[in-house]
Amino acid sequence: MALRTIEWMPAGAASLVPGRVRMIDQTRLPGELVYLETADVRELWAAIRELKVRGAPAIGIAVAMGVVLAVQAEDTADTAALQKAVDRAAEYLAGARPTAVNLFNALDRMKRTAVRLGNRPPAPFKEALAREAQRIRDEDAEMCRAIGRHGLTLLRDDCTVLTHCNAGGLATSEYGTALAPVYLAREQGWTIRVFADETRPLLQGARLTAWELMQAGIDVTLICDNMAASVMATGKISAVLVGADRIAANGDTANKIGTYSLAVLAAAHEIPFYVLAPTTTFDLAIPNGGHIPIEHRPAEEVTEGLGRRTAPHGVKVHSPAFDVTPAGLITAIVCERGIARPPYETSLAQLLRGKKPTP
Ligand code: MRU
Repeated sequence: MALRTIEWMPAGAASLVPGRVRMIDQTRLPGELVYLETADVRELWAAIRELKVRGAPAIGIAVAMGVVLAVQAEDTADTAALQKAVDRAAEYLAGARPTAVNLFNALDRMKRTAVRLGNRPPAPFKEALAREAQRIRDEDAEMCRAIGRHGLTLLRDDCTVLTHCNAGGLATSEYGTALAPVYLAREQGWTIRVFADETRPLLQGARLTAWELMQAGIDVTLICDNMAASVMATGKISAVLVGADRIAANGDTANKIGTYSLAVLAAAHEIPFYVLAPTTTFDLAIPNGGHIPIEHRPAEEVTEGLGRRTAPHGVKVHSPAFDVTPAGLITAIVCERGIARPPYETSLAQLLRGKKPTP
């Protein structure tokens, strides 16, 4: 059964109950599957910052719905005031997390929609914005399915892949990006095994990837991040599959911290390294990964992220949440429109223009 990671719950009868965002609280996994419902844009902002909802596509969906929450709370008969509320909400939500470009793309889309709606009266204006946010969610589900279909062509029956962090259903609307071909392989009756990196400091691989793959009955083996090289050395890994938070015009890719080291290891072992992400993760306005803002997280996530103190008080901590994998280490980038190969300056632009990349 597909996960319903994040969805919009429309207003109840006579609007007595406001529209709400319903999402899985990912900080409670794998212990318990708990849904968080909120009609408050500030609570949603905090949920994004605290990684209750996380993963680039899911964050994009969350902020689109956050704009709807902010606008529905405005009690006004003046659509111009609602237009301003959209801009204010977009500016506020843009500060939740800096790296995943899906967040900024979704906010831009909501702002463009508001402009297009022009002077429509408040009630239909709010309803149209809610529909747009739901469309962003539904399109993400379709894009992930398509990524799965393209990604599957890079794999074969009876294979083992390695993944990092969580780029599965929990990171998107329901199906995942890097895990989409895994789910599809399974649906087609293939035998597929997954090694999941634990992914320090916040253990998205252990807590989330292992959980969702086990829920789906997929053969998953958990490893600590520093075990990846020795697993690759066994010769049993057919491919590394990872997601992305932002892909620059030259193919440089930001993803969860540790992805870069995995790409280096994959190259050393001659294992294909694939990035799977929807075009909403592309940022072709920046020439390379040097322009990607990297989020830094609180020191406590490193020193007491496991529920108890694991480092001396006062120790200096460096905790970037993401790193940038240079394009030269990426075998191919898979999106809903197809598969891009180097040189990515050309192939990514062609895919965005809707052309098949020249092989
Ligand atoms: O800090 P997180 O958990 O939001 O980081 C998530 C990742 O790095 C994912 O790999 C990425 O967002 C792709 S999700 C399809």
